Amino acid sequence: MEWFNNFLLNVVPLAPKWAVRLVAKKYFAGETLESAAQEIQSLNQKGFYSTADILGENVEDIEEVQQPVESYLELMEKISDENLNSGISLKLTQLGLKIDKEQAWKNFEKLLEKAEEQNIFVRIDMEDSSCTDDTLEFYQKARKKYPDTGAVLQSYLYRSENDLLEMVENGTTNLRICKGIYTEPPEISYQERELISDNFFKLVRLGLENDVYIGIATHDLDLIERCENFIEDNDIEPENYEFQALLGVPIEKTLKRLRDNGHKVRYYVPFGGEWYAYSMRRLQENPDLAGYIFKDFFKLKSS
Ligand code: FDA
Repeated sequence: MEWFNNFLLNVVPLAPKWAVRLVAKKYFAGETLESAAQEIQSLNQKGFYSTADILGENVEDIEEVQQPVESYLELMEKISDENLNSGISLKLTQLGLKIDKEQAWKNFEKLLEKAEEQNIFVRIDMEDSSCTDDTLEFYQKARKKYPDTGAVLQSYLYRSENDLLEMVENGTTNLRICKGIYTEPPEISYQERELISDNFFKLVRLGLENDVYIGIATHDLDLIERCENFIEDNDIEPENYEFQALLGVPIEKTLKRLRDNGHKVRYYVPFGGEWYAYSMRRLQENPDLAGYIFKDFFKLKSS
């Protein structure tokens, strides 16, 4: 399938923006704060939690950083005003990490202060491996003053097990485990699906055994079942973990079943004007996504 995904990868950027939007729209909650709030409310009404993400990353000019900072402040006001059951997820490169680390920290701390004031949980998404050290450093620094902050570890990276154990030593209490979305070289990352999945399970297990609250972020049904069995076999209480999924990925049946069986389930809800650039970048970083989009497009045409 690799050749096919690569072929699609070259074709999708040629498609008109409206056509891409037609397929991509189920993966994001519209372009405005209002549309995101509606989506979150509807998820909350169905018994799901949310973490809201304002699309955007790798800001290239420090002047551009003020916009996402303001937007996140507004988002937190909205979450609080409308009593939404939602945290926020953010990317440090959107706050200027790659341009000016000191300024990025100041921007981040502004958001952390607001989050603390409004009692909102802040998750720092993990970006490509050039950001891992800085992201973990920001997280450790933040966590000491703002305990309602969480980080993410990617199971495709060899280093993640050590990172987790080190974080446990340093008193980490909340991690999201995902496979990892970026293309990383074999020198630093597992390439085979099975090894990535095994490491995912290992990280979840290690986290739970060390009293870390774990966000199990995957759509891989085998992996979900493996984690579910581990939780059941070891009598792990629901306040120690949650399952997480990206908005739009078609595993509603599984998520409803998890919810009905008493597990906490959280949707990752991205929104905002940067959806096109975001979708295209995701596609370039991970050609497998082209296959998902293609499948969706044909489902759409035949429905
Ligand atoms: P896998 O890729 O094996 O997919 C399992 C099945 O799910 C596939 O067979 C496919 O059918 C379906 N599927 C997966 N993605 C789909 C899609 N987009 N559309 C349709 N079907 C799809 N990554 C990262 O590097 N840093 C981060 O901070 C985060 N944060 C994050 C939060 C949450 C809540 C989730 C669920 C995921 C992330 N990720 C992430 C992305 C993650 O690393 C990973 O790339 C994707 O979730 C896909 O991997 P799966 O675990 O779903 O397995």
